[in-house]
Amino acid sequence: MHENDVPSRNAGRIERKEIPDMPAGSSKSHGRRSISASTRPRELVAGGPEMADSWTAKVITLYPQVFPGVLAASLTGKALETGLWGLETIDLRGFGAGRHLNVDDTPAGGGAGMVLRADVVGAALEHARRDIPDAPGDWPTVALSPRGVPFTQQTAIRLSRTRGVTLICGRFEGLDQRVIDQYAIEEVSLGDFILTGGEIAAQALIDATVRLIPRVLGNQASVENESFADGLLEHPQYTRPVVWAGHRIPEVLLSGHHGRIGNWRRAMAERLTKQRRPDLWRAYCETNGRNPEEDLEL
Ligand SMILES: C[S@@+](CC[C@H](N)C(=O)[O-])C[C@H]1O[C@@H](n2cnc3c(N)ncnc32)[C@H](O)[C@@H]1O
Repeated sequence: MHENDVPSRNAGRIERKEIPDMPAGSSKSHGRRSISASTRPRELVAGGPEMADSWTAKVITLYPQVFPGVLAASLTGKALETGLWGLETIDLRGFGAGRHLNVDDTPAGGGAGMVLRADVVGAALEHARRDIPDAPGDWPTVALSPRGVPFTQQTAIRLSRTRGVTLICGRFEGLDQRVIDQYAIEEVSLGDFILTGGEIAAQALIDATVRLIPRVLGNQASVENESFADGLLEHPQYTRPVVWAGHRIPEVLLSGHHGRIGNWRRAMAERLTKQRRPDLWRAYCETNGRNPEEDLEL
């Protein structure tokens, strides 16, 4: 183990060594596996077989204190508490080099900013890998990066069918390319914009993935009907009051006629998709043998 090894889920025990400068009270794993900072080894909270096998996100970050963040709220938070999924943060600083635990250095070839060192990220990855299966498809390693393949609902579905994922949150100019190549790391982007760090992107990825795990959402049917599930954006939604600010809920939704409501919703979903996302609309038409130019009375 690395001399600045961090506490983490292990085969039944937590071992921990102090990391210099680690924020006091920083928690390293969350949910049913949760432990508070302590220099003494502690037993894991006992859990059933479901907990031992639950989908887990291991997050390598310079800011472990921002996790679970928004994931602690609502249904994802409850599911984390009950062990339907697990979260482990790995403090990259603990693997830093030298007395000052440096994690970054200037870019080779010059230029602005700093780059996260391959040896430092590599050591954190080795730590993350100590108790995960060898089959990479079963436990992918993903670096959040604006250069990555765009994250989509299909990515979330794929990740939710693995045993877990190791996420690397970049900072500064990102990671040394050699660590990406050495560990065959997938680079995934949240969109065509630049965040300051990978933590928000990691939480978004985890949220989208975890809600697909059975029993995390109270009502699994909502997953089946929402945007992207069938290649379309979702139809507009309404609720009481029936009239608000002079606007009435479309009559068909008040009819109680399930067939007509279903047709209306599908028509609206198709129109919205054609109007807002021509890329999705073309793919949908191709899959369903439809003409993408057909008039939908936009
Ligand atoms: C300031 S950014 C680095 C940008 C990088 N120099 C570039 O131009 O591609 C720092 C970190 O934020 C995260 N990040 C920024 N934008 C992101 C996005 N759109 N999707 C996922 N992660 C992002 C990544 O982890 C990245 O390493």
